[in-house]
Amino acid sequence: MARVGVMGCGAVAEFGHLPAIVGTPGLELVALFDPSASRVNAMSERFGGTPFTDPGAFFAAKPEAIVVASPAGTHLENVLAAAERGIHVLCEKPLAMNDDDAQTMIDAMASAGKMLFTGFVYRFSPVALQIKKWVEEEIAGDIRSLRLIYDWDLHGQWEQTSDGKWIESPRWRGRMLEGGPMVDCGVHQIDLARWWLGGEVLRYDVAAAWVSDYEAPDHVYLHMDHEGGAHTMVEMSFTYGHTAAEPAPIFTYDLIGTGGVIHFNRDGWRLDVRHGQGTLVAPGASEKNFPGMYAAFSEALRTGEPGMMPSGRDGLVATRIARTATETVSARRSSSMNPH
Ligand SMILES: NC(=O)c1ccc[n+]([C@@H]2O[C@H](COP(=O)([O-])OP(=O)(O)OC[C@H]3O[C@@H](n4cnc5c(N)ncnc54)[C@H](O)[C@@H]3O)[C@@H](O)[C@H]2O)c1
Repeated sequence: MARVGVMGCGAVAEFGHLPAIVGTPGLELVALFDPSASRVNAMSERFGGTPFTDPGAFFAAKPEAIVVASPAGTHLENVLAAAERGIHVLCEKPLAMNDDDAQTMIDAMASAGKMLFTGFVYRFSPVALQIKKWVEEEIAGDIRSLRLIYDWDLHGQWEQTSDGKWIESPRWRGRMLEGGPMVDCGVHQIDLARWWLGGEVLRYDVAAAWVSDYEAPDHVYLHMDHEGGAHTMVEMSFTYGHTAAEPAPIFTYDLIGTGGVIHFNRDGWRLDVRHGQGTLVAPGASEKNFPGMYAAFSEALRTGEPGMMPSGRDGLVATRIARTATETVSARRSSSMNPH
């Protein structure tokens, strides 16, 4: 059994990492760390593992691998603390706040001789795996164009306090300050495009809109040219229904090939491929699969081989593209608003 510790016991740990860790053969949840005592105690009571609010005491519990599920700005310090102690890491996306920090993490883990993985959980969805298989089998011919869209409200910009006051959601504000939708969510789509096509991104361009008043754009269109000639458009929004009582998000994948079209619509979990012989429908699924990612993580810890796990470099590349694109379009906007 591999002894696993979790740093950061917030939303994604609660709905994704912790239930998957305790349900995965080969993994034992031994320690939890969070600066919030109430949070770490609540998660420990529910999922097990000893709770700590002091990182030194957490590491003294001797985890062999840790999961970093803390806010993006704290990933660097947590990964470096694990590298110093020779502990494998699975780190949430976005890997880091900038390229230098991501490279520092990769180098520190490599010097420690330990594995660093990025939590690109979309890869493990049965839908993403089926698409990967179809692309490799060329069921829709040679894929030349990808259109990956996720327009949603990030759970709404406004929320009501217990005394009935409306305030801006700290989560909405936090994610916009960390870089907005392309950096927070779009990194998954950038990773999928690279992984499905197996072709590196050679160049990219970006356009965006500002529906809210943050520095980062909240509705972003990213265009990437891949090695081999394919093109990907990723559309990501946090302002699609962000003020609506009944938001209706759009989540679709389209892969357009010389012999057909692969289409996934999360509404109704519909996955199909339309080609010369007709239409083939495959079972749909949620876009995330934490148990699937942890099965691969457990296998990587057992064998010492990364297998299907997304690497630190995968995290660096996707984050670099998302951040540079966001910064480019933000700079373009401020120079056009202040031409002198
Ligand atoms: N893959 C996914 O599906 C997915 C979904 C949501 C969030 N995320 C990512 O997971 C990370 C956490 O997001 P969240 O929504 O759970 O945030 P959150 O704000 O709900 O939780 C973060 C937790 O980390 C704790 N924390 C703060 N500083 C810390 C530190 N230095 N070390 C350890 N813990 C610390 C906080 O007290 C809090 O409990 C982010 O990187 C986010 O982008 C991924």
